[in-house]
Amino acid sequence: MGHPQSAVSQHTLLVRTTGPQPTTNDQMIKAIRGTRDLLPPDTALWNFVEKTVGEVFGAYNFQEIRTPIFEATELFARGVGEETDIVSKEMFTWEDRGRAQSEKNQLLTLRPENTAGVVRAYIEHNLQQRGLNKLYYIGPQFRRERPQKGRYRQFYQIGAEVIGPASSGSESPMRDAELLEMLATLLDRLGVTGWTLELNSIGCAADRARYNEALRQALDPVKDKMCGDCQRRAVTNPLRVFDCKVPEDQPIIEQLPRISEYLDEPCRQHFGQVKEILTSAGVPFTLNDRLVRGLDYYTRTAFEFTHGALGAQNAILGGGRYDGLSESLGGPPVPGIGFAIGEDRLVMSLGKTAEEVSRKPDVYIAPLGAGMNKEAIRLARELRRHNIVAELGDETFRLKKSLETGSKLGAKYALIVGENEVSTGVFALKNLATGEQKSVARNELAGAIRASQ
Ligand code: HAM
Repeated sequence: MGHPQSAVSQHTLLVRTTGPQPTTNDQMIKAIRGTRDLLPPDTALWNFVEKTVGEVFGAYNFQEIRTPIFEATELFARGVGEETDIVSKEMFTWEDRGRAQSEKNQLLTLRPENTAGVVRAYIEHNLQQRGLNKLYYIGPQFRRERPQKGRYRQFYQIGAEVIGPASSGSESPMRDAELLEMLATLLDRLGVTGWTLELNSIGCAADRARYNEALRQALDPVKDKMCGDCQRRAVTNPLRVFDCKVPEDQPIIEQLPRISEYLDEPCRQHFGQVKEILTSAGVPFTLNDRLVRGLDYYTRTAFEFTHGALGAQNAILGGGRYDGLSESLGGPPVPGIGFAIGEDRLVMSLGKTAEEVSRKPDVYIAPLGAGMNKEAIRLARELRRHNIVAELGDETFRLKKSLETGSKLGAKYALIVGENEVSTGVFALKNLATGEQKSVARNELAGAIRASQ
């Protein structure tokens, strides 16, 4: 990302010398390609999702963790893997100037995913002391991918990680099945239908070494016909060939050996138990032994939930086990499993509209005539303390304009605050949908409005 400070100071100089100029349309500053503003009423859907996530994950005893949005580049290089598309092509990385002259510049990266950060925090704060940790997060991630529907350069993930020493049961197939069952429950609670859980096991490190060798041998005679990336992958990290999107390479990839034939007995048994527990929990799944996931840290169980309505970017979420990740980051041997949901995609696949989950004002308070603003704000304060959504008008509005404004906002009632009402303590409460109006004493207003919520 170069040296942002010098760029900014150059730019400031430019503005100073030229002075403020009228702005034309193409000079307008816009959000950067691949980023976007989330606006109301859509933000109500995001809030609905995040609130439901808090409730559902809470019921499984997950607690929230928040890690920084930038970390040392090395964390992702070691955690996610140098050969992955994420690390080799997609990271936003810059050189941070050392604070003191003697200090070396450090390479920093906007997080492209959150699992490496969570495991780093786990190691750094010695969370191992607490046994099994169930942590979840919600936040932005950054990848320099080609933007398209459902794919952004700043996108949001909702993720969860279960990490702990083997003695805490972290390796048990029960953890895998429970996590997948939690995801099915969350999607049901959100009203997302039509999803498919694709499931695979990519074995332990030893299985993968044998599998990678088999892939290397199979690729050797054909790799020259493949894209440049695959030619490199065939030598350095053959498993990554499955990330290839080049159509001409697909017939070759289709013929490659399958990971399911390279699992050792313990991995086979582990996977068998995950499937059994899932079946008894009533969670449907489809086996897909081509699903290897695009990050290097995975071991054993790997999965994705896809959704037909999403188009080309059809994975709502992905995850799996990463039993060796902590050690590769210099931590203790603590097996883990987790997932991340693409929140942008999840929101796109919701069956609900923003209107269905938004709260409209319960009441539009219409002060009528000079001096009524100060009465109206006191009334609004009293009502809002009762968790009533109140929108305030202005005493300069005529009654007709107030009623129109209240209706436009979708308020259920208009509350008229005139001199007469204030002196008698009895207010006109008008139902904006039916036009029906009733007189309500001040201390009964909250009850009358709430009764219809
Ligand atoms: P991932 O498969 O790279 O896994 O990302 C998880 C989900 O994030 C994807 O299924 C997708 O829904 C969403 N996603 C990824 N890239 C984009 C993008 N450019 N625009 C919009 N959405 C996107 C991980 O990140 C792992 N950390 C998951 C994990 C957690 N594994 C174990 N624990």
